Amino acid sequence: MSIPYLRAAGTSLVLDARGTGVPVIVHWGADLGDLNGELLETLADASVPAISPSSIDVPLRLSLLPTLAAGWSGRPGVSGFRPGGCGGVALDLRLTEVQSGGVRAGVPSASGRTLPGTQALTIFLTDAAARVTVRTDLELSVEGVLRLRHTLTNTGDDPASAPFELGSLDVILPVPDRAGELLDFTGLWTHERRPQRSTLGHGVWSRESRHGRPGHDDSYLMAAGTPGFGFRTGEVWATHLAWSGDKHVWAENSALGYSALGSGELLAPGELRVAPGASHTTPWTVAVYSAAGLDGLSARLHPWVRSWSTITGHRPVVLNTWEAVYFDHDLSTLARLADAAAVVGVERFVLDDGWFTGRSDDRRALGDWFVDPVTWPGGLHPLIEHVHAAGMDFGLWVEPEMVSADSDVARAHPEWVLGGVDAAGVGGSGAGIGSASVGVSSPALTWRFQRVLDLGNPDAFGWVFARLTALLNEYPIAYLKWDHNRDLLAGSAHRQTVALYRLIDAVRAEHPGVEIESCASGGARVDLGILERVDRVWTSDTNDPLERQQIQRYSSVLLPPEYLGGHLGAATAHTTGRTSELSFRLATALFGSAGIEWDLTRANESERVQIATWIARYKQLRPLLHSGVVVRADPSDPALELHGVVSPDQNSALFAQVALAAPRAALPERMRFPGLAPERRYRVAPLSLGVPPRTIQDAPPAWLAEPGSSGAAGAFGTDGSVTLTGAVLALVGLPAPLLAPEQAALFTVDAVDGRR
Ligand code: DGJ
Repeated sequence: MSIPYLRAAGTSLVLDARGTGVPVIVHWGADLGDLNGELLETLADASVPAISPSSIDVPLRLSLLPTLAAGWSGRPGVSGFRPGGCGGVALDLRLTEVQSGGVRAGVPSASGRTLPGTQALTIFLTDAAARVTVRTDLELSVEGVLRLRHTLTNTGDDPASAPFELGSLDVILPVPDRAGELLDFTGLWTHERRPQRSTLGHGVWSRESRHGRPGHDDSYLMAAGTPGFGFRTGEVWATHLAWSGDKHVWAENSALGYSALGSGELLAPGELRVAPGASHTTPWTVAVYSAAGLDGLSARLHPWVRSWSTITGHRPVVLNTWEAVYFDHDLSTLARLADAAAVVGVERFVLDDGWFTGRSDDRRALGDWFVDPVTWPGGLHPLIEHVHAAGMDFGLWVEPEMVSADSDVARAHPEWVLGGVDAAGVGGSGAGIGSASVGVSSPALTWRFQRVLDLGNPDAFGWVFARLTALLNEYPIAYLKWDHNRDLLAGSAHRQTVALYRLIDAVRAEHPGVEIESCASGGARVDLGILERVDRVWTSDTNDPLERQQIQRYSSVLLPPEYLGGHLGAATAHTTGRTSELSFRLATALFGSAGIEWDLTRANESERVQIATWIARYKQLRPLLHSGVVVRADPSDPALELHGVVSPDQNSALFAQVALAAPRAALPERMRFPGLAPERRYRVAPLSLGVPPRTIQDAPPAWLAEPGSSGAAGAFGTDGSVTLTGAVLALVGLPAPLLAPEQAALFTVDAVDGRR
């Protein structure tokens, strides 16, 4: 057991846990094949490096928890101090035990499910002099997803012992030198998940979130790969921190001679004090290796997430009222909207912001979670009954972690407001950011005119829990859209995040049937920590399909598409002012958890027919879209993208050829369909959503021309199809239709040689 070797699905990890030093990851990456104990010993021995000039006098190895005491002068795995001491505690940890286990409690703390086949190791380290132990949990799932976390215990057991002030406790994983190109993400409101690439030179490339949520600029994944790695090519090592609060994730290429990916919670000074006898457990770092580009990451992550997902059953088609009516709530308007939704096939009607006491705009009333008696004299019952009668279930928007300065609850309990209230007692009502206290007390800054409810305060927690459960008890609510519309801007993100998880878990425990969507001004809280507790994420506040193509493309590297809420919006997007054709909006919203966010009562008859056709198709395709393998061809022209979903048995697939802009050549590169079984035969046919995409071709490619036609101008054959092998479709491909900019063409791909 001194050299554990974990293998799953083409990936492996070798750990040198001999002696008393902190174990060293000798290898994390491709599967190394069958290696017996002797070969593993030889591998570990042969991995011990030379001693370089002007260095420590023993070979320097990057351990699981590197510290100065072990000669590591890069970013440390753990740091902290004891008050009254002089400087930080230089932990000198020693290995005391390694335990291995077959099946362990699986992922979600929320579900507590067991994931069969997971290989697990637990490593125990101690620094007796410093009175600290660290336990490291390390798991490799059957899909090849690795995850690690640490638990630090302050073993000073007499009450007089000093607390251990934790500075950082991070997971650091080695990556080989050849992983010299980095990909991580940035973004802003309505433009989340923008990829950014860089070369990893000596030093640290660090992404830090101090938003109290991952933020719109969330790094999301930190991926290091072989130069030029793409969706289908190159080796990639990537990490993600399963945590919804502050964090830092980084890549380091140390002049000492090691490259590594690191991640952990970002702690404010004094934020985490481990009392004598107490412990602190970090969030999980999820780490994935792929030999086949970013798609290879998704191919491990998606089935793994699905193995513990809270989702049961299919994702219903949603109509969300936000961009349809905003705060203009009125029973007859909403009942008409519900009727229009039901007619086109919507399955869930979600009443967004604006339903609670006094909430006439975004400046007030957050926290007063009572149905507004003026707008809703009969409560929400008449609307919900109407929605039910129309055959849909009902969802409700809430923002439980927030409180408006101008609210009854803030007035009654100023001590529940994170950071307190200003001298006027209400803090910034209607005053834009800040109030009288701008520049004096940052916690008093308002953001969207709102403040944060201190969930770490048991009374505030109890009150909001009581309000949520009272609503769920009174009304048949199938779904909560759980929003979070500001950064915390307070040094207590840890306490707040832990309390948030506790709150969601408590609500779910009390109402296990209720689904939850995580929203944070769109996609500012999309992470695997929240995902253990929710059934959907609101990917972005933009319904503009052009923006959405990119946001969904990169969001789905980590998350399976069934989690990614995507709505059909109005022709002119509210967030960008860009006007898009219906066919493009429909084709874009299809690849996710689809819905509508548009005043359907204003749609004309032809639009409604097309929407109904789209929803009917979506319902047919939903099993494929929400269980399949996500694939994306590497584009040679950045204006053109081909992406799709292939069923796990490779019997069928749906692809979209997307023109984001004008192509760089008159005849675009062929569509090369990835992910099919090379030896099987497939029929490729265009899929109509009721309206064809707009093309700029005088005649379509021969294979798409309607049988017998000469390829008339603008024609996009609806009967054209071709049957070829998976290998031919992947390697040679098919000529693409000449799409006008901001158009998408859909293709079904079905095996014709018998299903398997
Ligand atoms: C921000 C969300 O992202 C929107 O979808 C909407 O729910 C508003 N909040 C409501 O205030």
